[in-house]
Amino acid sequence: MTGPPLQRLEGVRACVFDAYGTLFDFGSAAARAADVPEEKRAALTALWRDKQLQYTWLRTLQNRYADFWQVTGDALDFALDTLGLDRSLRESLMDLYLGLEPFPEVPEVLRALRARGFRTAILSNGSRAMLDALVFRAGLADAFDAVLSVEAVGVFKTHPKVYRYALDTLGLPAKAISFQSSNAWDAFAASDFGMRVVWCNRYGQRRERLPGAPDFEIRTLAELPGLLAVIA
Ligand code: 2OP
Repeated sequence: MTGPPLQRLEGVRACVFDAYGTLFDFGSAAARAADVPEEKRAALTALWRDKQLQYTWLRTLQNRYADFWQVTGDALDFALDTLGLDRSLRESLMDLYLGLEPFPEVPEVLRALRARGFRTAILSNGSRAMLDALVFRAGLADAFDAVLSVEAVGVFKTHPKVYRYALDTLGLPAKAISFQSSNAWDAFAASDFGMRVVWCNRYGQRRERLPGAPDFEIRTLAELPGLLAVIA
């Protein structure tokens, strides 16, 4: 988006964020793994992520929930085998996944939102332990009013139970929540559920052909505070 927005989101009281790819750079695990050959890092990141998401959707369809730590490990095994990489890399990559780097603008955006009175929360497929490790290692433990894991509802995004869990926990109607995700599928689903949605399209994804329509599309979260009307 260029220039100030013509309209702002009115009535928003809480900003809820997806974690992986939105606040935290999942590419930073392979990028920092010294033992992964440089020419395979991008392919490992992409396949690991794709398989991880597929497994969340498939497990939800099959009613066979397993937490995101297991799903992420299974997806990593698949990716390592496919790319001919040694399974001995698994442990260090999984540990790096617990300490993914936040995107550069994230700490300041969270600070600015809270200074204006917005509540801040994470709503993620990540297990509780994974999310706690992420925010702790990034020095962001005090930057959120709530860290919400789908573990509490036992299904993954995009099941409506996940988005409802945020409403129930924050005690707010859907229209009082601005949900931010870099994942187009997540942004469209949250919009279809009824939340206000700012799609942080970091990866230049195409619009989904799915129900829902994000209210705004931005490139980094630095644009978010400018989209929100002051709290009345
Ligand atoms: C999330 O954090 C997987 O990015 C997705 O829920």
